[in-house]
This record gives sequence, structure tokens and C-alpha cells, in this order.
Amino acid sequence: MSKDIAVVTGASGGIGRAIAKAIHEKSEGEMRLCLHYNGNEAKAKEVSAEIPESFVVKADLSSAAGRKTLLDAALKEGTPYVLVNNAGVDKPHEPALMITEGAFDALINTNLRSSVFLMKDFGNEMTRAGSGCIVNVSSVLARKALVGSALYRASKAALEEVTRQFAFELGPRGVRVNSVAPGFIETAMTAGIDDAMKEKIRAQIALGEFGVPEAVASAVCQLIENDYINGANIAVDGGMIL
Ligand SMILES: NC(=O)c1ccc[n+]([C@@H]2O[C@H](COP(=O)([O-])OP(=O)(O)OC[C@H]3O[C@@H](n4cnc5c(N)ncnc54)[C@H](OP(=O)(O)O)[C@@H]3O)[C@@H](O)[C@H]2O)c1
Repeated sequence: MSKDIAVVTGASGGIGRAIAKAIHEKSEGEMRLCLHYNGNEAKAKEVSAEIPESFVVKADLSSAAGRKTLLDAALKEGTPYVLVNNAGVDKPHEPALMITEGAFDALINTNLRSSVFLMKDFGNEMTRAGSGCIVNVSSVLARKALVGSALYRASKAALEEVTRQFAFELGPRGVRVNSVAPGFIETAMTAGIDDAMKEKIRAQIALGEFGVPEAVASAVCQLIENDYINGANIAVDGGMIL
């Protein structure tokens, strides 16, 4: 792991921060981290202060203009070798019979459209350079029902399928594409779940506990390091779907 720029979207969030730090450590500082954030500048700057030579880029990735901002900022600094599509939202939670067009657009644009077009744009740069590695952050809910998650799970299930398709088409051109599917991980995204619900969720996890962001980061690094893994999806969910 010793090539140019590694872009981590949503590096201001719990899982993104852990991924960025892990890539920095594994590459022994050889890779420069491009830390993307959207609204939480303070957190992004805090993460950047923890990672020497990293730089931050603000962009709303649900828009084409935001995605271009991120691509241009990365290219200005060097050749992107790693892209981790981690930024995402899980709200609004709406029961299936109450889903709205607005929620559809919000979730699909942020979780799916952003990742697809960042894969395309960074993939073009990586195939030109002849090497690269993309990791998409999916979710256990791509394969599991939970009331209120129809649109979220649609976005993540589709993301896993597109991951395989990009792996198929980019593999021959030197770029690997994989995904990780975290279970319930302790971050801001799950902090609002009430205690009774947390108990119910824990009861469905074979290991009996929520995971930590570092567990997801470790799987992402495995996918970056192992140059014969392409089109794979690693579940990091403590055994929630068995
Ligand atoms: N936590 C879990 O249990 C869990 C489980 C399975 C999958 N995941 C997935 O893991 C990823 C990271 O989640 P997390 O738990 O670390 O959540 P988090 O702490 O809430 O972080 C979410 C990140 O996404 C960014 N983001 C949100 N909307 C955006 C937009 N429109 N444009 C650009 N960036 C945007 C946020 O940026 P700002 O804060 O700067 O606005 C933040 O950095 C997500 O894709 C999530 O679906 C999480």
C-alpha cells in the first residue's frame, strides 16, 4: 500500500474517520489522505490534525457539482489510488406505506448516485493511470428487513450490485472494486437508537454487541491490500445474517 492519494468520503463521520486513520497507518504515511466532509467542518479538521499531510475537502456529494469539487481537489494534489465511498445517510426512516418521493431522492442521491458517479469519475482516472482500488460502504440492511429502512436498504443493495458490475468492467483495466457491509456500529448514526431497540438488535447479533468503527476500517484495509480480491463484499456485522 504505497501509492499517492487515498480519498475517503464522509471522513468527518465515525466510520470514515477510522478508515482514514487506518489507511494512513497501514500505508505508513506513503499515501496522502483526502478527507471529505459535508457539513461538519470542525470534525473534519480534527481528523485532519490526527493524520499528517492530509487535506480536507467540503462537498455535498448528492450533487454533480459537489462530486466535481471532490475530484478536482484530489487531482490537484496527485493521482488517486484509493477511493472509499463511505459518506451516507440512513434517514428519513419511513414505514414502507409512508415513504415519500422526497425521501427517495434524498437517500438514493446521497447513498447511491454519489457512489456510482464517483466510481465512474475516479474510475476513469484510475484506469488511465493503470491501477486503483475502490471500496464502497454498504450495510447489513442491504439484506435484512427493519421497519423504516425500505429506501436505505434499496440504496445499499443497489450499491452492492453496482460494485460487482464495476469490478467486472474495471478489473481488466487494473482497478479493483469491492464493498464492506457493516452491521450496527457505534457512531453518530446509531447513537439515537433507544435502549429497548438496542437490546432487540443485540439479540440478533451472534457476537451480541454493536461493532466499533475500527472493525470496519480493518476490513477496508484488507480489501485495499489484497490485490487478488475483486468484486467481493465483506460483512462486518458480528454475525447478523447467518
Ligand atoms: N453506523 C452504522 O451502524 C452503519 C451500519 C452500516 C452501514 N453504515 C454506513 O457507513 C457509512 C458511514 O456511516 P457512519 O456510521 O460513520 O455515519 P456518520 O457518523 O453519521 O457519518 C456520515 C458521513 O456522511 C457524510 N454525509 C452525509 N450526507 C452527505 C452528503 N449529502 N454529501 C456528502 N457527505 C455526506 C457526513 O458528512 P458531515 O457530517 O460532514 O455532514 C459524515 O461524514 C454510511 O454510508 C452508512 O450508511 C453505517
